[in-house]
Amino acid sequence: MSIKTKTTVREDAFANRSRVLLCPSILSSDLANLAEEINLLGDSIDMVHCDVMDGHFVPNLTFGPPVIKALSKRTDKQLDVHLMVTNPGKLLASYAEAGASTLVVHQEILYHAQRTLNEIRALGCYAGISLNPATPIETIQWLLPDLDMILLMSVNPGFSGQSFIPQVMEKIKKTRAMIDASGFPIRLQVDGGVTLDNAADIVRAGADMIVAGSAVFGQESPKEAAESLGRAIRLAKAKL
Ligand code: DX5
Ligand code: ZN
Repeated sequence: MSIKTKTTVREDAFANRSRVLLCPSILSSDLANLAEEINLLGDSIDMVHCDVMDGHFVPNLTFGPPVIKALSKRTDKQLDVHLMVTNPGKLLASYAEAGASTLVVHQEILYHAQRTLNEIRALGCYAGISLNPATPIETIQWLLPDLDMILLMSVNPGFSGQSFIPQVMEKIKKTRAMIDASGFPIRLQVDGGVTLDNAADIVRAGADMIVAGSAVFGQESPKEAAESLGRAIRLAKAKL
């Protein structure tokens, strides 16, 4: 299946529910060679995770819509856009226009979550919500019909290279159970501190989208690192 974003037509990896997806985070890449860094990974990756930070919700500042648009033109992978911003409402249309396939907003700053999620879907993107490690999953219980993806942060957002917070493993299991009980086809993404050592456990706990920054781009060969991670998560999924 293919999907048309505002900038291009590309394979809709997100819709292939039987596949666990590897999404490298460009935050850890050589940003002066962004498109080359992604393209070197070839088909070892499924989507590209783009961490948008506003210097307010998190103490860091990253990519505006022009960067996402430029990247979108140079890759055939879908762009998974994680909005770590205080005012996502004003930005949704710009990032959709730039070529985002998913738009993920943070529960901690949403006053009217359904409204925002419905806007994302109306823009032709998959709608995701992200929870910081300390945010209870019960806060999204009534949003499940409006969601295509739940992103569980396994570090406090803002930077690459932090360590996975161990108690999030239990949260992944509980969230997977909540999704399965709901019957809605919601993907479960885990972001932060993923390594070759814990990736399989994260998939066994119930994740089907894995974000990895330093575990890919911080390695001597990002392509080999992505291939190893991909193998580990697919093997774990196949054995479930
Ligand atoms: C953290 C970001 C993550 C980060 C992951 O705020 O949301 O996507 O880039 O980096 P690693 O995998 O190095 O923890
Ligand atoms: Zn992220």
